[in-house]
Amino acid sequence: MPEREEPVRIVAYPNGPLLVRGPVEIVGPDGAPLPRRRRTVALCRCGKSTIKPYCDGTHKVIGFVTEPEEPAED
Ligand code: FES
Repeated sequence: MPEREEPVRIVAYPNGPLLVRGPVEIVGPDGAPLPRRRRTVALCRCGKSTIKPYCDGTHKVIGFVTEPEEPAED
């Protein structure tokens, strides 16, 4: 019986990166897989990382702030 894969989960970390957990392949513009050393990866969304697409922590240095989430509509 095949094992069930865990679902991919992306967490928009407040004032920081997108944390990606689960079996997902990250590729470059040419379609070639990018190196991934950890099960959970942090993708930069401040635009200032020196190791894009991954987060290198620069968001803290520059004071990157995300917008507060809007309440869900009923
Ligand atoms: S989100 Fe961490 S360096 Fe951009």
